[in-house]
Amino acid sequence: MENDSPSKTGFSRRLFLQGAAGGVATGSALATLPALGQGAEAQAAATRAGLTRYDAAGAGIVLKVNGKKSPVPVTPQTTLLESLRETLGLTGSKEVCDRGACGACTVIVDGRSVNSCMMLAIDAVGCEVTTVEGLKKGDQLDPVQQAFIEHDACQCGYCIPGFVMRSRALLDEKKDLDREGIKHGLCGNICRCAAYVRIFDAVAAAAKGGQS
Ligand code: FES
Ligand code: FES
Repeated sequence: MENDSPSKTGFSRRLFLQGAAGGVATGSALATLPALGQGAEAQAAATRAGLTRYDAAGAGIVLKVNGKKSPVPVTPQTTLLESLRETLGLTGSKEVCDRGACGACTVIVDGRSVNSCMMLAIDAVGCEVTTVEGLKKGDQLDPVQQAFIEHDACQCGYCIPGFVMRSRALLDEKKDLDREGIKHGLCGNICRCAAYVRIFDAVAAAAKGGQS
């Protein structure tokens, strides 16, 4: 017979399964699991293991975005995209698919492009996050931004911040990109207006202009 007696932390297998079935993805469900959010012993063990535990009911973290550190309230399931758009008001990164399939939410984290809808905000603690709002240097647009304007690489514009950020990261990753390399490098970004030809033209022009 299954042993379902609570451990000394007050946490049992049955309690865990009840919480999981009720929706581990929600803060309120996790909050019903006392050992996860409150156990001092568990907290100490996690700290010894080099892990940071966040209370399911919410916690404050600090994110460094576009060179500026800001306090951000989160729950463990808050995505980086949600924090950027809804807490910090940086709405350049778009939420379209919310499942890593379109690239509209692309930002640069420690030099690499990521789909911010697929990254937890707590995983961005200690990282340098750059959004499209932070790409220009002073009054000077990034060469990618300038090239998109000069090539009119836009129709409705909704996908463009994501393309700009992925293009910037791509040009920083690889030199001597040809047209096929640009297409391949941008294959994770979708433009529903199909402005691809002008987008590829713009990135090719930016590639000739060198790195930022
Ligand atoms: S909204 Fe993030 S990949 Fe589509
Ligand atoms: S310009 Fe409209 S989705 Fe790309």
